[in-house]
Amino acid sequence: MPDLVIAGGSIVTPAGTTLADVAISDGRIERIARDVGDAAEAIDASGMLVLAGAIDVHTHLRLPDEVHPDRFRRDTEAAAAGGTTTVLTFNNPGTGISDDGARSLMRGLDEFRERTAGESAVDYGLCAVITGQQAEPVRELPSLIASGVPTFKAFMVYDFALPDTTLERVMRTAAQNGGMLQLHCEEPGIIEPLIARCLAAGENGPRFHAACRPPEAEAAATRRAIEMARRIEAPLYIVHLSCEPALEAVAEAKARGEPVYAETCPHYLALTDALYADPDDAEVIKRVISPPLRTSADVEALWGGLRDGVLDVIGSDHVPDRIDTEKHLPAPPFPQISNGAPGIETLTSVVYSEGVARGRISLERMTEVISANPARLFGLPTKGVLEVGRDADLVVWNPGARRTLRQQELHHSSDFTPFEGLEVTGAPVHVLTRGRPPGRGRFIERRLG
Ligand code: URP
Ligand code: ZN
Ligand code: ZN
Repeated sequence: MPDLVIAGGSIVTPAGTTLADVAISDGRIERIARDVGDAAEAIDASGMLVLAGAIDVHTHLRLPDEVHPDRFRRDTEAAAAGGTTTVLTFNNPGTGISDDGARSLMRGLDEFRERTAGESAVDYGLCAVITGQQAEPVRELPSLIASGVPTFKAFMVYDFALPDTTLERVMRTAAQNGGMLQLHCEEPGIIEPLIARCLAAGENGPRFHAACRPPEAEAAATRRAIEMARRIEAPLYIVHLSCEPALEAVAEAKARGEPVYAETCPHYLALTDALYADPDDAEVIKRVISPPLRTSADVEALWGGLRDGVLDVIGSDHVPDRIDTEKHLPAPPFPQISNGAPGIETLTSVVYSEGVARGRISLERMTEVISANPARLFGLPTKGVLEVGRDADLVVWNPGARRTLRQQELHHSSDFTPFEGLEVTGAPVHVLTRGRPPGRGRFIERRLG
């Protein structure tokens, strides 16, 4: 007899939606059929959707430390509360430093595993960040990949941007060893003069952050990165794509058959740059993110990109910043404001409500871009699809629930949500990780297929 049956729900996979029961044993899906019979326990899912839990491949969780011992746990609990059952996170700047002061990716992995052991409510993995501060990051990549961290992020902008020569070496080494680069594409040559001009004119409020990071800066860097990957014949994953001109660059690469993948985020799909016109800095600062929010035309273009397959994944880009301890009010001059906003708990809600309930994408496509594609692209073959043999990471979803997203009702460790006041349709009712209530997440050593 199965341990648990989820009875009578609509089972959603990328291939279609069918009315069926899901039988679960030993944390795995044992059977999906019309009537699987008795089980030790049952959850009635009639009238509900049954979805694979979301896999959030873009988060910046904070490792537990003396000041914030519980942030990692709280944010992974928040992920589960929102319907996300696997989280990949970038390691924190300032980790991976040996006693002699040298930085290393492998040391970063060891430290990450030590400090997160037993701390995650959901299964989780690491994506390394190559900042240029590590002594020999390229030389370390084969060992890192072999140790279960086959994806890593680098930046084309900020103080820790990698020079093109290093980016090329990272791409080439990744391609040769079964890895994939996740690249933040913004062009400093366009952004930095705009920042200098703003500051010289005394325009240093938080709203000027967005004005200095125009779509052209993102599109130019996206094109340059795609060109580099094409020359090297390396796969490339573009993180947090926010605007139509960058989307066009990805569409052209895909049309040429190149292994270029792209991710967008819920905030680019639900919010617009109109929020930067708010006279209250306390509101604007909640949306100081990079790339910034864009126009409603970009929002519609991104939904189009999700529909037609140019965009592969939606990740939250969760940054657990708090206004009281990281962003600060009164706001410092905008270049000093910590970039990022929380979103780990609201991913499925925003995508379901703004996407599926508003008819912009199908339910099946949603499950593809928040679960199946993240599993496929990030080396998680036991996750991401409701299929016999895979982990029973699933969400019973009430498609008719209506609520308003409010900070006071969220579980994450931030003290704000950029989605404050957004009315959403749909809500998770039950969330299971490997067939059980969340709480005992395991570190996953990943291999790309
Ligand atoms: O503003 C953002 N997105 N902050 C997080 C870091 C990053 O670039 O993803
Ligand atoms: Zn980034
Ligand atoms: Zn990010």
